[in-house]
Amino acid sequence: MGIESSCDETAAAVVKNGREILSNVIDSQIEIHKVYGGVVPEIASRRHIETINAVVDSALEQAGVTWEDITAIAVTYGPGLVGALLVGVSTAKALAYALKKPLVAVHHIKGHICANYAAHPELEPPFTCLVASGGHSHIVYAKGYTEYEIMGMTRDDAAGEAFDKIARVLGLGYPGGPKIDALAKEGDPHAVEFPRVRMDKIDKNDKASLDFSFSGVKTAVINHIHRLEQRGEEYSRADIAASFQNAVTDALCEHTIEAAQRRDSDKIVLAGGVAANSALRDKMRKMAGEKGINVYCPPLVLCTDNAVMIAAAGYYEYISGSRAGMSLNACASLTLENEKE
Ligand code: KG4
Ligand code: ZN
Repeated sequence: MGIESSCDETAAAVVKNGREILSNVIDSQIEIHKVYGGVVPEIASRRHIETINAVVDSALEQAGVTWEDITAIAVTYGPGLVGALLVGVSTAKALAYALKKPLVAVHHIKGHICANYAAHPELEPPFTCLVASGGHSHIVYAKGYTEYEIMGMTRDDAAGEAFDKIARVLGLGYPGGPKIDALAKEGDPHAVEFPRVRMDKIDKNDKASLDFSFSGVKTAVINHIHRLEQRGEEYSRADIAASFQNAVTDALCEHTIEAAQRRDSDKIVLAGGVAANSALRDKMRKMAGEKGINVYCPPLVLCTDNAVMIAAAGYYEYISGSRAGMSLNACASLTLENEKE
C-alpha cells in the first residue's frame, strides 16, 4: 500500500511486487486551489485530513484485497508541504501500528522515478532519468533500484514552476503546464527565440555543468509580453506559449541526453508532472532516438502525483531492507543528497 499527500493530491494505491497496479486512487484538489492561482498549503492539509481515510479504503476495495494481503505500508515523508506530508505520514504510522505491518519511508522524487517500474514491466536500472515537476528538476542516474546519483539540477525555478508562472502571465490559470501544452499546439515554436541558459561552471570531472536555470527564460518571456503590451501591439499567446515551451524542452532534452552519453546509458526515463508535456515527450524520443537511446515515459496519470509510484518505490526500499519506525517525521526540505538511509 502506498500513500501520498505531499502537495495537492491525496492518493493511495495497492501495487503488487512493485510492478502490477491493483488500484490507483487520487483525490485531486486542483478545483479547490484554482481560485487562488496556486496551492494554499493550509487548505491542502485540511483537505487531506478530510479525505485520506476514504482514499485509503477505496484503494483497498478497488484492488479487491484485504489488509491481510498487504505486506507493507509505504508513505511519502518528503519533500513537500510539511502540513500536507504530516497527514500521510500520520495515517501510514497509525495503519502500520494498528495492523502490525512494516512501515517504509519513501522520498517523493524516488517515487516519481519508480512510477516507470509500474508502467514498463521490462524496465531495469541502470538508466538516466529526468525528473521534472512543480518542485524539482533533476537529472538522476539510477544505479540500482534504490541507489541514485544526481548529475544536474535546477539552480532556481523548477521546470513546472516556470510553466505555472508563464501560464499565469498569459492568463491561462492553474496548473499552467497542461494549459501551455494545449495552447502551444496552435502556436509557432520559433516565433520568438527565448534564451537557453547553459551553465559555464565546470564540474569536478572537468565537464560542463548539466544544471538547469529557468528564471532567465521566465523573465525574458515576461519582459517580451510587457514590451508588446506597452506598445499596444497585438500578440499571439499561442506563439509565446509554443516558443517558451520550445526553449524549456530544448534545455531539458539536451542536458538529459548529454548526461546519458556521459554514462554510456542507452535508456532515458522521464518522470514528474512535466513529463506529461507532449512536446517534451516527442522531442526527447526524437533527439534521443537519433543517438540510439530508448526513451521511457509513464502514462500521464503516473507523471503527476500519485501513490502507485510511492508503492513501487516502497517495494524496492522494502526488499532492500529499509524500515521506518514510529518516530518517522515529515521532512519538507528533504533532498536526494541529505536522505538518511
Ligand atoms: O509531479 P507533480 O504533480 O507535482 C510535484 O511534485 O511538483 O507536478 C506538477 C507540475 C505542475 O507544475 C504542472 O504545471 C506540471 O507538473 N505539468 C505540466 C504538464 N502537466 C503537468 N507541465 C508541462 N506540460 C504538461 N502537460
Ligand atoms: Zn511530485
